[in-house]
Amino acid sequence: MGVIDEVKQRTDIIDIISQYASLTKAGRTFRALCPFHSEKHPSFFVYPEQQSWHCFGACNTGGDVFSFIMKKQGIDFGEALRLLAQRAGVAIPSRFEPGAESEERQRLYQVNQAAALYFHNLLLDSPAGEKARSYVIGRGFSPKTIADFQLGFSPNSWEGLKQYLMDRGYTESELLTAGLIIEAEAGKTHDRFRNRLMFPIHDARGRIAGFGARVLDDSLPKYINSPQTPIFDKSGSLYGINLAKDAIRQQDLAVIVEGYMDVITAHQNGFHNVVASMGTSVTEKQVSSLKRLTKNITLALDADAAGDEASLRAVGYENTLDAEVKVIILPRGKDPDDVIKEDAKAWQKLLGEALPVVDYTFNMVTSELDLTTAKGKSSAVDKLLPIIAEIKDDIRQAHYLQKLAHLLKVSERSIEAALTRIRPRPSRGRAEEPKQEVATHLHPLLSSPIEEYCLALLLQHPELKYRQEGLSPEYFETSENREILIAWQRSDKIESLKEGLDSATHEHLDSLLTRNLLSTKIEQKYAECALRLREKFLRSLATKIEAVLALEAQSGGRAADLAKLKEQGVEVNIQLGEVFAQKSRRRSEQRGVRK
Ligand code: CTP
Ligand code: MN
Repeated sequence: MGVIDEVKQRTDIIDIISQYASLTKAGRTFRALCPFHSEKHPSFFVYPEQQSWHCFGACNTGGDVFSFIMKKQGIDFGEALRLLAQRAGVAIPSRFEPGAESEERQRLYQVNQAAALYFHNLLLDSPAGEKARSYVIGRGFSPKTIADFQLGFSPNSWEGLKQYLMDRGYTESELLTAGLIIEAEAGKTHDRFRNRLMFPIHDARGRIAGFGARVLDDSLPKYINSPQTPIFDKSGSLYGINLAKDAIRQQDLAVIVEGYMDVITAHQNGFHNVVASMGTSVTEKQVSSLKRLTKNITLALDADAAGDEASLRAVGYENTLDAEVKVIILPRGKDPDDVIKEDAKAWQKLLGEALPVVDYTFNMVTSELDLTTAKGKSSAVDKLLPIIAEIKDDIRQAHYLQKLAHLLKVSERSIEAALTRIRPRPSRGRAEEPKQEVATHLHPLLSSPIEEYCLALLLQHPELKYRQEGLSPEYFETSENREILIAWQRSDKIESLKEGLDSATHEHLDSLLTRNLLSTKIEQKYAECALRLREKFLRSLATKIEAVLALEAQSGGRAADLAKLKEQGVEVNIQLGEVFAQKSRRRSEQRGVRK
């Protein structure tokens, strides 16, 4: 049995949830005031048989014990798993455990720390560091800032660092793996960073994962960075996160800028919730790593970068965060370092005026067009609709569809029709669709065969990615399957899927990837499977709603609550009707084929 299953088997959802909500038994379920939002009348239910929960109130969502902990603590799947594993006394093998670093990785962190100290001391008081010292003073950095960021200087020497570290017992091979030295020709190595200002790049736990290094003049390349190593992935790291994380949590906002200098100047001026993506555009991984600290992200974009593409990507981040991403646009030719140094208040003001990225894109696109002409309208649609189509949150998507229709003075219907053409989403327009799940199957605690079959199909047949069958993560009741579906929806390639997934799910993923499947009629099988999942989800929701209604009726619940529940029930039944209609259509098509 896998670790995930073992944790599930040893965990009772009632025990866990009763730590956060006071549950009262009601028939075969337990109910409570929802622990996620404040309410007067309990609309939160726990189902011991299915080991699941559902809130029929403002959350209108539910899930298993992992998703409960994830939502309650604001943590990701892997963290929730570890928490519950610890509680259940299930040992997680060390490769799953971020706390138990392999010895190799520990050595790499140590060697980086030793290198940072070497560079830092040289900056502080070596004769060789004189030029670097005047450079940092010229950039306005205070001694405290230099110490806080552990800035350093790498001397103009081929083997200074290499000698220093080897004298301290590190091997040449460790230095190579850490990216501190380079193998120039076979068997000959020398220091990677020479005559540069050094920026140690820390992870959230304060360990040094890599380095950035700037020249002290205008020569090129301006920056070089550590290569990818077992402990460093530049595109997944955020510079300054070690110093910013408390402020991000406290202010419930993270500001992402581009460069090292921007972060340092921001922090020195009291803006502590600032981190840098280090040049490249912000990545999914960087956004996910902030998710546990805050849902609110503001991107500082420079005027040139703030194009359609950036907006499209930003909508992707919104989907990851399940929240709005805001942007501020920097004055042309300036970066945050320039802006803040010139006038910290101007930066504060920019932040205050940050716009949701989609609104910003609207402004940008429409300011360049004449919206009274047919041509202007259609080019606004061409530019904005693909961005709106990316928005996963139904309510927000509907909001922007309306906004676009208004601006163009055309009917919402025509905009919606255009949307369906670019991406048919069967559940479109059903913003009030009750979210979530839970079905009744024989072994609710362990695997869910259809979910897994469906995932195996998707994973083994990449061509299915573009078949829209209205598959939604909420149809997957087990959190690990849901995690895999979400990662699959987000990643371009199966090969990169693992990067977006917690290592604890890798074993499960591998088993799905290697599962034996017959390779005939794949598309048809997938369509059937997606439909069955939807049916399973809706049926279980309908059953739950009925049970709650029965309870409410018995206990003389409030008329308003009853009406709302009934409405939800009706909606679910309508959708079930659609599923049945599709099933019978499909059956008669198949009969047609066989004849
Ligand atoms: N960057 C990089 N490699 C490069 C150029 C840039 O890694 N060759 C990253 C660095 O993290 C850098 C950021 O992109 O901080 C932004 O680059 P740039 O605007 O050129 O540098 P600044 O940080 O503004 O540095 P300075 O103010 O010293 O010019
Ligand atoms: Mn700059």
